[in-house]
Amino acid sequence: MATVIAAVGGSLLRPEIDERHAWLEGLVSVIRDRVSMNDRIGLVVGGGAPAREGIELARPLIDNESHLDKIGIAATRMNATILREALSDAGVSVSGTIPTRVDEAVLLLEERPVVVMGGTTPGHTTDAVAIRFAIASGAEKCIIATNVSKVFGEDPRSNPDAEPHDNLTHAQLQEIVGPAEHSRAGPSQVVDPVGVSEAKEAGLVLNILDGRDVGLIRAAIVGEEFEGTLVKGD
Ligand code: UTP
Repeated sequence: MATVIAAVGGSLLRPEIDERHAWLEGLVSVIRDRVSMNDRIGLVVGGGAPAREGIELARPLIDNESHLDKIGIAATRMNATILREALSDAGVSVSGTIPTRVDEAVLLLEERPVVVMGGTTPGHTTDAVAIRFAIASGAEKCIIATNVSKVFGEDPRSNPDAEPHDNLTHAQLQEIVGPAEHSRAGPSQVVDPVGVSEAKEAGLVLNILDGRDVGLIRAAIVGEEFEGTLVKGD
């Protein structure tokens, strides 16, 4: 029996991922199994393609990153609704509403074993929301399910020789993702630097993994060894 919060990258729900229906079914089935083992799970869904598209459409007209962030937040809540409805239809006891604040999410997780949410306020991404939710709910860890296999020392798209990391301290991860700032709405680092700084402060364990493989998400929830990057105290 564990409490685990996971940030589910929005790109995982989109056509960028092959066989996305099978992926969604797989995720629902992992969550259903874990709930039957009495785990409590918070899922914070990212914005993916609709966030990117919406922000890109409005950017030439809107000269304010917070206002663009609000478009991204709307996309995260739409994606959260897809996952919430899929879980609910599969008979999973998931909270009926998509909370807009972390304190609200913590209360809902006391009532139901599963809570699904998206973003909250401008100035960060859903990674930071998941990290705050994990800290506030006393979770064992926060899983960051993204679409890369591990955290690399540099962006592997610009440096094919970049080194993948199995283990990092929070300080090392902060060094890689940069200072705790949210300078621009839309796609950012492998993990939100604002969230990394809060995880460091709280000593929260992070499991960063490739969420395209739901088996990895399951392994991380269960506490088994997983392929990805384990981030823990300095
Ligand atoms: P995402 O969490 O999807 O972030 O939020 P991302 O880094 O762009 O995308 P992934 O994680 O790689 O899929 C999308 C956008 O919504 C706004 C930000 O502009 C973010 O870039 N947002 C999201 C907020 O302002 N606050 C939130 O709490 C969540």
